Amino acid sequence: MAMTGVLRPGHAQLRVLNLEEGVRHYRDVLGMVETGRDAQGRVYLKCWDERDHNSLILRESDRAGIDFFAFKVLDEATLDKLERDLQEYGLTTERIPAGELMETGERVRFEIPSGHKIELYATKTQVGNGLQVTNPAPWTPAAEKGIAPVRLDHCLLYGPNIAEVKKLFCEVLGFYLVERVLGPDGEGEAAIWLSCSHKVHDIAFVEHPEPGKLHHLSFLLESWEEVLRAGDILAMNKVPIDIGPTRHGITRGCTIYAWDPSGNRFETFMGGYQPYPDYEPTTWTFDGLGEGGGLDYPQRKLHESFLTVVT
Ligand SMILES: [Fe+2]
Repeated sequence: MAMTGVLRPGHAQLRVLNLEEGVRHYRDVLGMVETGRDAQGRVYLKCWDERDHNSLILRESDRAGIDFFAFKVLDEATLDKLERDLQEYGLTTERIPAGELMETGERVRFEIPSGHKIELYATKTQVGNGLQVTNPAPWTPAAEKGIAPVRLDHCLLYGPNIAEVKKLFCEVLGFYLVERVLGPDGEGEAAIWLSCSHKVHDIAFVEHPEPGKLHHLSFLLESWEEVLRAGDILAMNKVPIDIGPTRHGITRGCTIYAWDPSGNRFETFMGGYQPYPDYEPTTWTFDGLGEGGGLDYPQRKLHESFLTVVT
């Protein structure tokens, strides 16, 4: 598949209750690289193998959760076109000036029907991954610090109107539906997994009455051994674990869910399969989420916290 339009998740701005506690968690336990701090006091981090300056921005607040989630698009012409397409679709968009986020160009921000703020941008300074471009080594010492995921992979958001969200992402932004969970009555969709790429999900949504909620940000590891090692590191650092290590039936990802010091859930995972846009979406019944193993395939049960705890 030619990669045009929306390329990938680019950055998330996360609210934390105590900035330095948050930095210690994401930098020292998760093992991200701190790349800057701005005049507002926000802290910028990236995963070791990411090329762009930042993928996670921490902002201190008295309320945990997510400010916005952003996707990088191919170039500035694509950004202009998608902005026009969003406006023609009926959404209000806002241009955030270049530099408002460190090392990041102009962003187009809009609110989706689930109450989340989504951004598109085309430019972010490429600081590299610490490897040479010519004849590089396969990894750097940064790949051994903390859990050391290779990238911010996707997020799962909770909010209302996910049928409208699916329409917007698929009809305007070029995403496609990969998997879904039907509602309890077998009608409608209780959850959707959407991709703009060859990944099993770039963003996912669960129908939920409260708007704008974060279920988790997810960070990619390269092997099951690394997921088990992540579990060891989380336990050594007394990080509270929600679920796992286990495997999802949905997406086939092998996962651990845990909470950062502010109560924001994050995921370290590996695996999944590589879908194409012509694949028929995989459908899970509502019961399939629990006893069908959609959430936890080995245990085939619903974990209450998965459906109820969000920030
Ligand atoms: Fe996930």
